[in-house]
Amino acid sequence: MIYGEHIRLRGVEREDIPLFVGWLNDPEVIENLVISLPISTSDETHWFEKLAELPQEEKPLAIEVRADQGWRLIGNSGFHNIEWKNRSAGVGIFIGDKSVWGQGHGTEVMRLLLKHGFETLNLNRIYLHVYEPNKRAIHAYEKAGFVLEGCLRQARYKNGRYQDEFIMSVLRSEWDAQRGME
Ligand SMILES: CC(C)(COP(=O)(O)OP(=O)(O)OC[C@H]1O[C@@H](n2cnc3c(N)ncnc32)[C@H](O)[C@@H]1OP(=O)(O)O)[C@@H](O)C(=O)NCCC(=O)NCCS
Repeated sequence: MIYGEHIRLRGVEREDIPLFVGWLNDPEVIENLVISLPISTSDETHWFEKLAELPQEEKPLAIEVRADQGWRLIGNSGFHNIEWKNRSAGVGIFIGDKSVWGQGHGTEVMRLLLKHGFETLNLNRIYLHVYEPNKRAIHAYEKAGFVLEGCLRQARYKNGRYQDEFIMSVLRSEWDAQRGME
């Protein structure tokens, strides 16, 4: 487990599949995700079973928030494309429970992943891709310390038009400087 103030990150369990299927079929949740087609329980079960083949550091991390009687699943996150020679990795997140959007959880998850990535996995660069219309995500990432690094122009086609795709990143030196200021 990776613990934050209001959230914790844990391994994904088979029992999480029904909630993931519901969220990943919600048009509002996937508006700014790569997914654009309906996902079945069978699709998600296949995804879950393939997780065993991933390196431990790239296994997804379920996001749970403190609830009255313990913890409640609200989404998923994790690292991908870890390059050990370059000490670089991509990071991703979705909070499927829309009732808790805008409460700071996404920012807290990204800060926790940055801490884990830099201080446990010893990464040097952590990056993400985000579509231009996803203002909520961009704001959360900026709050967590990500800076805009580049723009893939018209990289995505959605809702009948092209959208730009931004790359944002945090370097270890920036993370250290941010920590030093606290
Ligand atoms: C994107 C996501 C992870 C953000 O998590 P979150 O918990 O909702 O975000 P936070 O509350 O930490 O931060 C969001 C910030 O954006 C602000 N915001 C919300 N809508 C905004 C908008 N239209 N324009 C600018 N800022 C906006 C919020 O006010 C908040 O800032 P504040 O704390 O200074 O008030 C979450 O909403 C989500 O998973 N959405 C669906 C899937 C998705 O888009 N994933 C990311 C793919 S790159």
